[in-house]
Amino acid sequence: MKSIIVYYSHSGHTRKVAHILLEYLREKSDVELLELRAQDESDSFFGQAKRAFLKKRAKLERVNFDLAGYDLVCLGSPVWAFGPAPAMNTYLDKCFGLENKEIILFTTFGSGTGNQSCLNYMQGVLSKKGVKNFNRFSTQQFQADNKDKVLLTIKQALRL
Ligand SMILES: Cc1cc2nc3c(=O)[nH]c(=O)nc-3n(C[C@H](O)[C@H](O)[C@H](O)COP(=O)(O)O)c2cc1C
Repeated sequence: MKSIIVYYSHSGHTRKVAHILLEYLREKSDVELLELRAQDESDSFFGQAKRAFLKKRAKLERVNFDLAGYDLVCLGSPVWAFGPAPAMNTYLDKCFGLENKEIILFTTFGSGTGNQSCLNYMQGVLSKKGVKNFNRFSTQQFQADNKDKVLLTIKQALRL
């Protein structure tokens, strides 16, 4: 099985979860990690929140949008203003080759407000690209350092 984890992280929490997922999937598959980098993201909380709320897209550093070669695709984002970060919005728009693939969506969040909306939004975009099989899990930002807890959440959610 070939897998890829594509994620965006501004302050490191989603990155930590992505690396725990990487370690977990390594036992089962050949797995790649791809961190999205935004070229034009705002530096301020309010700028970031506004862009995310308005569902802006970020300019990404050169990245592979072709996911046809993978059996399992994992996409992770922080929750920003009840939705994904703009970098993930761009990736969701542009990625392809996902028909009938197994997809894992994951988020990290602060209060949890908007977490389900964020996952639903990500799922909605990918459903239009022919994805039917979704697994989802989320981690509160302060739990991202708790490897055992994150692993448990992953195992419970994924049934892999
Ligand atoms: C601009 C901005 C907007 C946010 N909006 C939300 C939100 O709507 N709901 C929530 O639960 N957390 C929200 N958060 C908290 C982040 O989701 C949380 O800190 C996340 O773990 C950050 O991930 P990162 O460290 O990978 O960037 C927001 C954080 C930022 C910076």
